[in-house]
Amino acid sequence: MSQPAQIWSAADYARNAGFVPALGGPVVDLLDPRPGERILDLGCGDGVLTQELAARGAIVTGFDASPELVDAARARGVEARVGDGQRLPFSQAFDAVFTNAALHWMPDHAAVATGVRRALVPGGRFVGEFGGHGNVAAIVTALIAVLERHGVDARTRMPWTYPTVGEFSQLLEDAGFEVLSIAAIPRPTPLPTGLAGWLDTFANPFLGGFPEEERTAILAAVEALCAPSLRDRSGGWTADYVRLRFAAKRLD
Ligand code: BEZ
Repeated sequence: MSQPAQIWSAADYARNAGFVPALGGPVVDLLDPRPGERILDLGCGDGVLTQELAARGAIVTGFDASPELVDAARARGVEARVGDGQRLPFSQAFDAVFTNAALHWMPDHAAVATGVRRALVPGGRFVGEFGGHGNVAAIVTALIAVLERHGVDARTRMPWTYPTVGEFSQLLEDAGFEVLSIAAIPRPTPLPTGLAGWLDTFANPFLGGFPEEERTAILAAVEALCAPSLRDRSGGWTADYVRLRFAAKRLD
């Protein structure tokens, strides 16, 4: 079985992951967008937060690898482009680059940081938040354990990269940034449509290629393994998110 790709559905994203932009307030505040600033929203998804930056008066460009999510962003009136965040095509075009819940999908963080530096004017800000070391650890461990029983090494399908504070700080400095702040923030995150909805939206690289019946059995086994740590007595699910939140400045 070859490595299945992540498939995005704007409708599923809105239903199962509306909390992603809804919880983006603190990182927007950290960015502190100002009227007239040119801002790139790297990994803009369906454009909910991009719209919020624009509402604060910034001139915002969204950028995302998923054509379907870019279409959803454009439908909100956001100017957005499809592209790989690890190969940004911009040169000194922005006063700030913002990113929320996207960098963990881009394994080559050094290439991202190099492209962001090039995209910024000297002194420009790179502000964001994404999954840090230990993010969704219980879910990842359950996926590895269950898929092993189905003959797949889930580590070879792991689509997410979760650096530590030390690793990501060093990487930013090596790319020519001054790190202004960086912290790992545990953020238990209620899942409005449960673990099944979350897996459905985010975990298709692990689940692709299995026949429907086997996929259903895998999902049930992952839920059973995670339930003691992530499901409460009334049946609600809370994922073990850890955010890495940072602000950096391009050195000249
Ligand atoms: C996150 O935002 O941390 C995340 C989102 C989807 C999959 C894994 C992690």
